[in-house]
Amino acid sequence: MYDVRDSSTRAPRSVAARGRKPWLERWLETCRDLSDLSASHPMMDAVIEEIDGRMIRVGDRWLADFASCNYLGFDLDRDIIDAVPTALEAWGTHPSWSRLLGSPVLYEQIEERLTALVGSEDSLVLPTITHIHMSVIPVLAASGTIFLDERAHKTIYDGCQAAKARGAAVRRFRFEDPDHLDELMSVERDPTRLVCMDGVNSMTGNPPDLGAFAAVARRHGALLYVDDAHGFGVIGERGPGETSPYGIGGNSIVRHAGESYDNIVLVAGFSKAYSSLLAFIACPTEIKQMLKVAASPYLYSGPSPVASLATVLAGFDVNQRRGDELRARLHALTIRLLDGMSRIGVATPNRSGLPIVEVPLRDHRRIDEVGRFLFDAGVYVTLAAYPLVPKAEVGFRMQLTSANTEAEVDGALDALEALAARGLLRAPDDAIGVLGARD
Ligand SMILES: Cc1ncc(COP(=O)(O)O)c(C=O)c1O
Repeated sequence: MYDVRDSSTRAPRSVAARGRKPWLERWLETCRDLSDLSASHPMMDAVIEEIDGRMIRVGDRWLADFASCNYLGFDLDRDIIDAVPTALEAWGTHPSWSRLLGSPVLYEQIEERLTALVGSEDSLVLPTITHIHMSVIPVLAASGTIFLDERAHKTIYDGCQAAKARGAAVRRFRFEDPDHLDELMSVERDPTRLVCMDGVNSMTGNPPDLGAFAAVARRHGALLYVDDAHGFGVIGERGPGETSPYGIGGNSIVRHAGESYDNIVLVAGFSKAYSSLLAFIACPTEIKQMLKVAASPYLYSGPSPVASLATVLAGFDVNQRRGDELRARLHALTIRLLDGMSRIGVATPNRSGLPIVEVPLRDHRRIDEVGRFLFDAGVYVTLAAYPLVPKAEVGFRMQLTSANTEAEVDGALDALEALAARGLLRAPDDAIGVLGARD
């Protein structure tokens, strides 16, 4: 048996004897591009010392921020900021009961308003989407079969792995391919079926054809579980009063697609468009009641801070009063960027006009150089290095928010044009047939 008292002498000797740490080496090799970048690149693992609108300061350099998910600019909204002190006075900083023990009435108010906004039968809020995927997917899948989008967000994938460890089977269907899902389900004999996929994709910026996937799921008696982290607050139901093709109210992908919630549960969060720390599952009351005793975060995790609950409630008010105006601005800024890119001949997989614009590189090995160029040009983006994305898709992602300015977008376009002139970016023709391929 290992003797802890002897650890100072025994552990180093045994490591030296073997001379290797295979568990560590394997990961360092797989993540080499990413870990090299994180260790040295100013645009990774950065310390942001100050913000001014959507400008951020890293060291002594000010950059325009295109890496935030605060799509509606609620993080900077005066009406929302001002809602926090009153809530803190009433509730203190943090109600550290688990939700099963007791929830401040703010939760009831949030769930009521959320259910009305998205138009579902009911809803349940928990701190993060990750909590929801890790706890709810295993409950809904039980020992049945999960059909998982092969490009699903890592947190959905992890939730499916947790379900697998508890006896579920996992089959993967091709990205954006409802026919492949149909084929797999047609030969599946397991009667318990759950389909897990993204709504608006966090890299391509495109929504799936939800109607087609919902039809396949219904035809095969499956429940469709959709994570619309990036669509909630941005896209909503279509209608005559809409101020942009994003639709009205930001009530997410099910409403945007004109779908019903039959056989669909919607998962999304407030940590992107609403700039707050809270997430939800919109589902029938029967599922909500079951999750209250079966989903571990409801029973065992701490709750969201009061400031987050207050900013979600204030966010609903601002969304109702000015949301469509903010979405119209967000749409206009995004189109300014996309039109500019097509004018200068830079490819992106974005075909939706939503504010997530991925820019793939011609050569994945030049990510460091491209990132440094953008940093020096004052443009802050999310670098997407291997293995975060397949090698064929290595590049960077730009996200727009309604708090960005036209001048910031034009500055980013100048930087893209300079990168394109050096042959580092793909032209629209190069991209066809490459994006979406796995390496
Ligand atoms: C599609 C998607 N799902 C889930 C998450 C994780 O959300 P949370 O931070 O609420 O766990 C993200 C965050 O980037 C995401 O993009």
